[in-house]
Amino acid sequence: MACPNVSWGCLLLLLCFAWTGDAEYMKYKDPKQPVNTRIKDLIGRMTLAEKIGQMTQIERSVASADVMKNYFIGSILSGGGSVPAPQATPAMDPDLVKRIGEATALEVRATGIPYTFAPCIAVCRDPRWGRCYESYSEDHKIVQQMTDIILGLQGEIPVNHTKGVPYVAKNKVAACAKHFVGDGGTHNGINENNTIIDEHGLLGIHMPPYYDSIIKGVATVMVSYSSVNGEKMHANHDLVTGYLKSKLHFRNGD
Ligand SMILES: *[C@@H]1O[C@H](CO)[C@@H](O)[C@H](O)[C@H]1NC(C)=O
Ligand SMILES: *[C@@H]1O[C@H](CO)[C@@H](O)[C@H](O)[C@H]1NC(C)=O
Repeated sequence: MACPNVSWGCLLLLLCFAWTGDAEYMKYKDPKQPVNTRIKDLIGRMTLAEKIGQMTQIERSVASADVMKNYFIGSILSGGGSVPAPQATPAMDPDLVKRIGEATALEVRATGIPYTFAPCIAVCRDPRWGRCYESYSEDHKIVQQMTDIILGLQGEIPVNHTKGVPYVAKNKVAACAKHFVGDGGTHNGINENNTIIDEHGLLGIHMPPYYDSIIKGVATVMVSYSSVNGEKMHANHDLVTGYLKSKLHFRNGD
């Protein structure tokens, strides 16, 4: 009874050798290796030009196909002036937003960068905030619905998927829920300023879109430059480590 198993094993082994005969084994491509080992291997293979390119972010107005290809550019910014067209129609349609995510994923993949710094899930509580146009709504319930864009960008989590979240499908891009947290509630709408709020307000208004994003498999979360009750978010152990990582179980990778 053991024979068939053995011969199948040999056959598979031979096939494996045949396949890897063409391509060199790359440790960084091996999902069985620990993340740190893979990173070390990948960095060790990169040229200085690739490292410089990967650390460089350029404006989209200068991001031609040649530039992307020849300089190994790490990221592209839709910066100053990249606001919506004057006649752009607002749409409160999560399914449309999801399909926009699908189209965006396709275009982003074409740059060679499998990652987008979107969506902005700020709940804009003060129209004086200059980045209000990036926010889906002042109503957290609408922002929560619009996190469906993550399913378009990263792909929907298959029903038989057992590894939990984050989840990014093949040929999609990693999304980024930002900016954690309270960026749309700053004092007088001053950008990157201080969000003065009690726990009830923070967890009831600004946090809910993060619950939805994490459930939908978002791969990354960007911490905000703003403060909450006088404490810079980047130094906010309670909210970043205590809440996002420990309570919401947001995990990146491993
Ligand atoms: C999950 O389902 C899809 C679609 O039916 C199938 O192609 C895939 O092989 C399944 N994956 C696992 C791990 O069962
Ligand atoms: C908020 O803005 C005011 C006025 O520009 C500035 O003095 C203050 O330092 C800012 N606070 C934070 C936390 O960024």
